[in-house]
Order: sequence, then C-alpha cells, then structure tokens
Amino acid sequence: MCGIVAYIGEREACPIVLEGIKRLDYRGYDSAGIAVVRDGRLVIRRSVGRISALEEKLDHELEGATLGMAHTRWATHGGVTEPNAHPHTDRSGKLAIVHNGIIENYRALKAFLAQAGLTFESQTDTEILAKLIGYFYEGKLEDAVRKALREVRGTFGIAALHADEPGTIVAARRGSPLIVGIGDGEYVVASDAAAIVQHTSQVIYLSDNEVAIVTRDGFRTTTLDAAPVSKDIEEVEYTLRQLELGGHQHFMAKEIFEQPESLRNCMRGRLDLEAGRVVLGGLTSVSRELIKTKRIILTACGTAWHAGLVGEYLIEQLARVPCETEYASEFRYRNPIIEDGTTVLAISQSGETIDTLAALREGRERGALALGIVNSVGSTIARETDAGVYLHVGPEIGVASTKAFTGQLTVLAMIAAFLGRRRHLSHEECFQYLSGLAAIPDAVEKALQLDSATRQIAAEFVDANNWLYLGRGLQYPVALEGALKLKEISYIHAEGLPAAEMKHGPIALISEDMPVVVLAPRDHWYEKVLGNINEVRSRGGRVIAIASEGDHEIADLAEHVLYVPDVTELLQPLVTVIPLQMLAYHAAVLRGCDVDKPRNLAKAVTVE
Ligand code: G6P
Repeated sequence: MCGIVAYIGEREACPIVLEGIKRLDYRGYDSAGIAVVRDGRLVIRRSVGRISALEEKLDHELEGATLGMAHTRWATHGGVTEPNAHPHTDRSGKLAIVHNGIIENYRALKAFLAQAGLTFESQTDTEILAKLIGYFYEGKLEDAVRKALREVRGTFGIAALHADEPGTIVAARRGSPLIVGIGDGEYVVASDAAAIVQHTSQVIYLSDNEVAIVTRDGFRTTTLDAAPVSKDIEEVEYTLRQLELGGHQHFMAKEIFEQPESLRNCMRGRLDLEAGRVVLGGLTSVSRELIKTKRIILTACGTAWHAGLVGEYLIEQLARVPCETEYASEFRYRNPIIEDGTTVLAISQSGETIDTLAALREGRERGALALGIVNSVGSTIARETDAGVYLHVGPEIGVASTKAFTGQLTVLAMIAAFLGRRRHLSHEECFQYLSGLAAIPDAVEKALQLDSATRQIAAEFVDANNWLYLGRGLQYPVALEGALKLKEISYIHAEGLPAAEMKHGPIALISEDMPVVVLAPRDHWYEKVLGNINEVRSRGGRVIAIASEGDHEIADLAEHVLYVPDVTELLQPLVTVIPLQMLAYHAAVLRGCDVDKPRNLAKAVTVE
C-alpha cells in the first residue's frame, strides 16, 4: 500500500525521504514521487515503476532543500500513470500532499471544486483533496488542512507542504497509519516505523482524526477542530538490523530461516511449565471476562485467516469454547449476531489491514470483548483492542507471510491453553501440551533441513501450472496456506482443499500434469488421508507427501515424501507448513519471480 515519508530538519531532505520510501517498498507500490520546498518554491518529480526510475529524474533543483516528502503509490483510483502518481498539488502549484487511503466522497467534492472553476490533471481522489486544501488556504496550511479534512468521508494518512511555509509539515490521519519520528532538531513523518528507525526510535503515533504540525523546533497535535491533543512519546521496538537481509537472497528466505528463533521469542516468558500454565500479560486486564466467554469469533484476512482456522480448532479442543473463523471483509458487512459473552479476536501481522480493523470495530460496537493478535507494535488494531497479545517475531518484510504465520499459530496455541487451563484442563494435561509447544522451535529447525529436498521438488515440477494441496482436520488450513504461498509469489495456480472434498469435483482435474501435495503427518486423520492419496494415485496423479519421520508406509504410495519431525498432534501445523513455505519460495526463485515484491500484492492492505 502507499508509503509516506516526510522530513524537516537541517539535513538534505531528498536522500532521507528517498531512503525512507525504499525502506517501505516491501509494502508494494507501482509508482513513486517526491516534493521538496527550496528557495520558496515547490519542486516535484514523479515516475511510474520502481523508485530507481524516480531517482533518474532527480536533478540539482532538489539539492539543498531541508523540507521534503516522498510517496510510493499502490493504485486505487486511476491507472498507473505519472499524472496519477503523488505528490498532488493545488491550483497555485505551491501546495502539495501525499496520501494513503481513499477519499470516498471525492466525486461530490470534485463537482463542488469544478463549480468553483478548478480543473484536474489526474484521475485520483488525492488530487481532489489537494485542491480542496488549496481552496481553503488563506495563509496557514494547518487551518486549510483541518478545514478540508472536516469535509472528507473515507480514510487518509496525509502529509502536506506549502512553498510559502518552508518550516512546516502538516500531517493527519484517519484509518491509515501515520507516525512522527522525533530526532534531534529534525522530524520524520512516515506511514511505517521502518522508514524512521535509522533516524530515531522515539515516536508518536497519530490517532484517527488527529493533525500534527511539525516544524524544526517541535511539533503540536490537534483534533480536526483545532483542539490541542497531548501525545505520549513511545519507543519503536525494532532495530535497523532487523530490516536488512543479513546474507540471505530474499527477506522471505531470511524470515523462513528465522522461525526457530522468532518462535522462541514469541514464547519467551509466557510458558510456565512447572505451574502448567501460560502467562499472557497482554490479557491480564480482561482475563476474568475472557475466561467466561461463551463464544469466540476469530477474524482476519489472508494468511492470518488461515492461522485463525487452526486457532479455532485448538480453542475448541483445549478450551471447549465454541469458536469460528470469519473473513474480516465478510464479517463486517453481514450484520453479525453478537450475543452477550462474545469475544471478537482480530488476527493481523501488520495491525493495519482495513477490513480486519473494521471487523474488530463492528464486533466491539455490538458489545463484544475486542481482542487482537498483532505483530506490529503500536499499530492501529493493537491500539483499538481492549487487550491482546503481540507476536514478538520481529518485523516481517517479505510480502508472503511466513514467520508471522507460525507466530500467530503459537499465540493461538498459547491462548487455547490459557483458556483451557482455567476452564477444565488438568495441570498434567496442560504440562504435556506446553512441553510440546516448548519443543516446537527445535522441530522447526529440523524441518528447515528440507531446504534442498524442497528445491529439488520445485525444480522437477517447475513447469506445472496447477497444483493441488490436500489436508484434513488441522492440516486443512495448512493446505490452504501452502497453496496461497505458491500463488502469491510464483503466480502458479494452486488450490487448497479438505482432502475428502476432492471427490466432490476437483478429482476431475487429477492428471500427471498436476502435482498434488498431501499433508499426511501421523494424526487421527492419517488412515483417511492415505485413502485420499490412493485416490489420486489411481488416477495418475503425482503425490508429494508431507509425513512424519519414520513413516515408511507412505513412501510406497507417494512419489516424493518430505519428512517432518513428530510433534504433539495439535501443534503439527507449525512444522508441516515449513516445507510448504520452502517449496513456494524455491518455485518462485526458479521461475525468476520477484519473491519479496510479488506483482499486484501489498504487504498491508489499508484500503477495502
Ligand atoms: C495481505 C498480505 C498477506 C496477509 C494479509 C493480511 O494480503 O499480502 O500476506 O496475510 O494481507 O495481513 P495482516 O497484516 O492483517 O496479517
């Protein structure tokens, strides 16, 4: 999604904001632009494609400016063209804004401005906002921004500059994240902390409908009605090193291999084996209410939704609380029934996915206890929940989620045990289960040794354009996740199915051209899954099985077997997903795809 970086201070603005948008490029974008104020004049450059194309357009006119901003655009309104790239300007050409979000009433605002005689150069909603701010401008940018934003329906994170006010950045948010980094005599405004951490770890997070007025001497925050708001300065948790490749070819590979460590971090201080219980500090304030909950609705998008499907299973098995997993985008619009004692638990790596946020709000407005499982500290979902649990797996940069997925599974496993122990699990049962969880990082480490085996399989099937992933029970969401990984980064069509459903249609697809990945660890669905493998084999299908170490029987049935360590049955998804992540990664590399920045995808989807 769109990235925003703005700088004011004593240093040269251009390299700082460019470096900033490069740090955000993992979020996905299709064009980029920059604006600086130099010698009382606004200088703007824009370009479609990669940031390097923008860099080629930079010249001495931007040199020496100490106030500037840059933007990466992920198209929503209007195609990927230079006129549609940000920054956008007002009629005077002195005011510029960059924007993330959607101005929903832009047509009405456009008609209003057209009547006032304004003309437009782009098809974007952002240009309308720029022109509207310009329309209200009477010598004070902050007043004009507030006035315009009071007229806006929709979401925005914006930064605005005016050539006549070379000492000011005005930033505002509703729905789209915005952070002000506080340095020594300098400030960086950005949509993501990744663009700030090389300058400072001190930040303020703007809340919805807040405006920040940032100068070289300090900053103020107000509401849209100009009432002052005081903000706490917070510390960004992660470091620059975590944002670098560290010897890996891609962030996705780095993040796959980080999983033993990221899972240890996720569990650190949270498992009390001796007492047979889980300590989740983030839930302390709501624990009484949570223990009594009658129903849990997990809501999420994409990979996080797959984690929810596993979580549903764990919570029902261990805590015996009815639990269901809903696509956030569906839940928010279906007029959901929320009875007394319902908990809505949003799962989101970024904490910014707009549908997940809206689903959480919907649940809370209808009286549910609103909880979150989030990776990104200080993100909007984390701030809007009544309580929650952070993943603590470190920043995830690769667009295809890997370590956040296993982190989400781990947190859900801990929440299930937390609830189970307080409802009916015995000390011994909980001890056994938590010992199994504590052993997972080592098992994941072992599963990572399948790297070269998965590369060989990916190479053998590199030309296959359709893949099927089958699993039952706990392995069904893993099948969905394996298929999603392959689609996202290698653009190969893949479908995940509950293995028994194959008979009801998809079996017609089976042929030697379609590899079928079957999740078949030793669990209580195992015999049934062997039956499904036979069904595939007898129709000429080629099976790649993910099986438990020591299972020799399966070697006679499947063409390839990837053995993963045997772990506690309920926790098997944490290890069976590892070879699927590697398979997708190698398939994408072999097909020459841009693994970390797959086409059309964004890391955090902040528009509907
Ligand atoms: C996007 C990403 C997916 C991710 C989904 C939910 O589609 O490309 O990888 O699973 O959003 O993101 P979240 O940050 O809410 O977990």
